Amino acid sequence: MEETQHIPYQPLKFEENEMIERSAFFYDFMNKRRSIRFFSRRDVPVEVINNLLKTASTAPSGANKQPWTFCVIKNDELKAKIRELAENEERINYNGRMSDRWLEDLAPLGTDAVKEFLTDAPWIIVVMKKTYDQNQAGEKSNNYYVNESVGIACGMLISAIHFAGLVTLTHTPSPMNFISKALNRPENEKPYLILPIGYALESCTVPDIKRKTLGDVAIYYA
Ligand SMILES: Cc1cc2nc3c(=O)[nH]c(=O)nc-3n(C[C@H](O)[C@H](O)[C@H](O)COP(=O)(O)O)c2cc1C
Repeated sequence: MEETQHIPYQPLKFEENEMIERSAFFYDFMNKRRSIRFFSRRDVPVEVINNLLKTASTAPSGANKQPWTFCVIKNDELKAKIRELAENEERINYNGRMSDRWLEDLAPLGTDAVKEFLTDAPWIIVVMKKTYDQNQAGEKSNNYYVNESVGIACGMLISAIHFAGLVTLTHTPSPMNFISKALNRPENEKPYLILPIGYALESCTVPDIKRKTLGDVAIYYA
């Protein structure tokens, strides 16, 4: 087995009060992130998209396998095709495939089977998870904690999008198998999330949802 060389780690160093300030600032900043369903057609430079994906790719992953592929879509025809296929699935979902309880939970969000954001947003990123790796010779190797790893990378991507002053939506038309075929992806990759990226429409509104409090989500053990 190959030995990985270890190198010195240079930690960032902050005084405690600075740490408190930075963490409070970051919370305040992240608390302003919202899922956006109405996009402007205004363009975003590809350099920004590349930086966002490089950030996502710094995520930790099981055994450092980095089991993700980001499919970057700009082409209008391909976006229209994906929208059509996604809307086909969503129409079936909203007309009987989703349980009454699921539809009830979605009602406050005001979502339906129409997905304009898939053609309005200047960029669509389809995140693929690699259930296993396969080299050019067709030899397979394992990936580990694939869902956790790709989920963390997506969280970092969503944060980077927000940091750049752009918006996204975590979109999961279900089932998503149609994407693999439309994007001609290999057997070892499965669709994970669709993220439209761009600017919010000026007239955009968001559901008035509430976030759980710290007391709701954290338990402290003495
Ligand atoms: C895994 C996942 C899947 C989601 N799928 C969809 C989706 O398909 N369509 C949609 O409109 N919103 C989707 N959302 C967005 C959620 O509705 C949204 O995150 C939630 O209502 C909280 O709102 P916020 O993101 O503005 O804080 C999804 C979110 C997650 C994390």
